[in-house]
Amino acid sequence: MLGSAIAVAINAALKPLGLQIVRRQTIEALVGVHQQANSADSSRIDLESKRLEIESLRSTLDHLRQIIRERNDRINEHESTIISLQDNVARIQDIAQKATEYDKRLNPNLLEVEERYVFGTGSFLERDLHTHTFTNMELESARLLYSLVLLGRPRVVVETGTHQGYSATYAAQAMIDAKIAGHVWTIDPYDSSHLWENTNAARYVTWLQDISFNVMDQLPEVIDFLVLDSEHSFDTLSREVEMYEPRLRIGGTMFLHDTLVFPEMSPVILALRDSGRFEMITFDTPRTYRMIGKGCGVTVLIKKRSGDPVNSEPYRIRNQTPREYFANRNDDFSKMVLSNSVPFHLDTNIAISTMSNLTTDDV
Ligand SMILES: C[S@@+](CC[C@H](N)C(=O)[O-])C[C@H]1O[C@@H](n2cnc3c(N)ncnc32)[C@H](O)[C@@H]1O
Repeated sequence: MLGSAIAVAINAALKPLGLQIVRRQTIEALVGVHQQANSADSSRIDLESKRLEIESLRSTLDHLRQIIRERNDRINEHESTIISLQDNVARIQDIAQKATEYDKRLNPNLLEVEERYVFGTGSFLERDLHTHTFTNMELESARLLYSLVLLGRPRVVVETGTHQGYSATYAAQAMIDAKIAGHVWTIDPYDSSHLWENTNAARYVTWLQDISFNVMDQLPEVIDFLVLDSEHSFDTLSREVEMYEPRLRIGGTMFLHDTLVFPEMSPVILALRDSGRFEMITFDTPRTYRMIGKGCGVTVLIKKRSGDPVNSEPYRIRNQTPREYFANRNDDFSKMVLSNSVPFHLDTNIAISTMSNLTTDDV
């Protein structure tokens, strides 16, 4: 259109001179090229300004991330100074004891399982009431977990080793009771019905059906409370610690089950201790199955600072069966455990007879 108008105007100007040298099509083609060149220029400019805009947004984002990191570090430092296991053993024990006073409103599926709990051996009877099973952690350890969740108020609990979800449901129950806006991620390839199902704990729990090494990208970046209760071998535990511990926030809790009965776990515990980055207590829990003198044990750690990855390789057990290793009480780990472990038993008579609730002071 424009080309044709220009051609008409130029030819009209040339006409008095007896000339008509400009063809409409030529002018139209020239105008088209000119317009294209202009629009190509402007889209180049648009792209360039978008690139600058994105760059500036990126650097603002980096800056904000840095501010958030520093702020979180300060909060974590603060929190880590107020959480101390040693100072709270009596309180932890007291809350675990009082958890039993919740019985009337405890998750009905937990209650059903606990009706078949055998105090002393720390086992659960199957529904046939004859066979004993030891796959759930024992009631005392589950209530220790409950107590620690109540006190620590974690928003993100991650557990390896779900089985029926006995411990995961306890963690969820603590969140419900203490009104914690948190969530439990629990990981196990084993397909089972779970104790949280069809209860109000269900919306607090996500089960990832896989082995613990495969799910890091499905978990939150920062973990407040880590329960490691999958396979108790050196290889699995050391790998889980290597993968999960860096995500545990400063002031966060690590809960390791069965540390007194599976000696293959000892090298990892020693490495965690020797890193100097944790406060650590081993609770001597009362399950007697397969025990040599002590209960099956729960080691609880509070992370004091970040640092180099935990390296357990130097402590790897060589040329000894776990039983031989455990029987040798002169080794470093056993000495540490013997001198540092804290008995952890619940008064079951009180548990059955009292029904008062926890006060707000307790949580
Ligand atoms: C002792 S049970 C867990 C009990 C559970 N924490 C409780 O107290 O209710 C151990 C579970 O770990 C699972 N397991 C073994 N290796 C695993 C791995 N690498 N990742 C995730 N789960 C694993 C097994 O399938 C088994 O169900």
